[in-house]
Amino acid sequence: MKVTSLPLAAAAAGVALLSTQPATASPLPHQLSFGDSPSLSTTFSLLSSLTSASLDVFTPRLVQTAHDEAPYWGFPHYLRWKGVRFFDVTDHLDANGQDVLLAHSLLSATSNEKKTSSFPSKLSYQKQVGSVHANISESGPRANIAAFTSFTNRYYKSGSGKQSQQWLLAKVKEITSVDENITVEEFEHPWGQNSIIAKIPATDSKAAEENGRIVVGSHQDSVNLIFPYLPAPGADDDGSGTVTQLESLRALLASGWKPSHSNVEFHFYSAEEGGLLGSQAVARSYAESGKKVRAMSQFDMTAFIKAGTNATIGVITDVVSPELTAFNRLLIEGYLDVPWVDTQLGYAGSDHASWTKVGVPSAFSVEATFGDCNLKRIHTTSDTFTHDEYSFEHILRFSRLSSAFIIELAGWGK
Ligand SMILES: *[C@@H]1O[C@H](CO)[C@@H](O)[C@H](O)[C@H]1NC(C)=O
Ligand SMILES: *[C@@H]1O[C@H](CO)[C@@H](O)[C@H](O)[C@H]1NC(C)=O
Ligand SMILES: *[C@@H]1O[C@H](CO)[C@@H](O)[C@H](O)[C@H]1NC(C)=O
Ligand SMILES: [Zn+2]
Repeated sequence: MKVTSLPLAAAAAGVALLSTQPATASPLPHQLSFGDSPSLSTTFSLLSSLTSASLDVFTPRLVQTAHDEAPYWGFPHYLRWKGVRFFDVTDHLDANGQDVLLAHSLLSATSNEKKTSSFPSKLSYQKQVGSVHANISESGPRANIAAFTSFTNRYYKSGSGKQSQQWLLAKVKEITSVDENITVEEFEHPWGQNSIIAKIPATDSKAAEENGRIVVGSHQDSVNLIFPYLPAPGADDDGSGTVTQLESLRALLASGWKPSHSNVEFHFYSAEEGGLLGSQAVARSYAESGKKVRAMSQFDMTAFIKAGTNATIGVITDVVSPELTAFNRLLIEGYLDVPWVDTQLGYAGSDHASWTKVGVPSAFSVEATFGDCNLKRIHTTSDTFTHDEYSFEHILRFSRLSSAFIIELAGWGK
């Protein structure tokens, strides 16, 4: 795709916008009569919302697309179009142009690091994990994905992106309401859609303080490749990871689980599609305030099984911790009914990369090898949950992986 085709597409999208749903504009009046002030103001509000949407797309940002590359001014929308994954580091450079997140990765060079970056080489909680897995079922994910894809899009700057975040917040609160000690908070961002963090405290708070947190993540935003404010159901990217985590959390709590020796956090990031904006803000905040994280596991796209292939779990091997990734393979071998297959995604593939930057061991599991992922539908109106290659059975495998990861690392408190 050429850069020069962008303005044309944006103009086309602008026309489409007028006939769909600019988040802040009033509906089109039947007749525009210019002597009449309400119509004038309606026209003005339409034009200004179209202008701000276009400004959003045509504003360059400091982006980084490779580990050894200096940030440069680029257009996030164009990068997405080309399928290039990127960090938007505009808000995370110091006065000398150094990446603030990388500076904080010094945190991981402390004496604790050796201890915290080693992970179990065998499984210890088969019985307990089995009891949680027995409670995992399709009904939650089916209902949740239907609701979560019912918003026009979940773009992080759109009105419907904010509404979908509020729906998710209410859902996480509902699921966690069974335990008074669980907190659910919004991590506020300036762009509208906030990240959501649910914290489950360990029964042994002293051990938890020493060991650091166990974090599982997914991203809540979606985007349309043509123009970000157009419809984008994002059923796989990353509605699937979102409902994967909701089911893992629900089944853990239904089984009476509490972590024993590490606090556990479920993160639902905003603005992954904007260049890992939400997860960078969260990771930086944790690093700057010295909140220790022992391990982070990302779930982004968990539903797709390409026709003619057998189900596998893709294990991402770049921009992750090799030690945590080895542990992740052990979990798949011990707890799932399909094999893992190593695969690579490139730099800034998903939110785990923000944690890798601040020196936290991260892992990333995905629906298949990169080549067999849902690459044709994502970021389009076709990323729905109603086609034949969208599998709830596959989603549940990742809910099992998430809950096993949590129990084997954070324990089972009494
Ligand atoms: C899961 O646990 C809940 C609460 O104990 C129970 O009501 C529900 O029937 C269980 N579901 C399955 C599929 O076992
Ligand atoms: C909440 O924490 C308190 C203090 O640790 C504990 O006594 C109580 O049982 C916990 N409640 C639940 C539902 O686990
Ligand atoms: C899928 O698995 C079956 C049974 O193990 C095997 O016979 C078949 O060749 C596999 N198909 C592919 C495409 O790998
Ligand atoms: Zn995406």
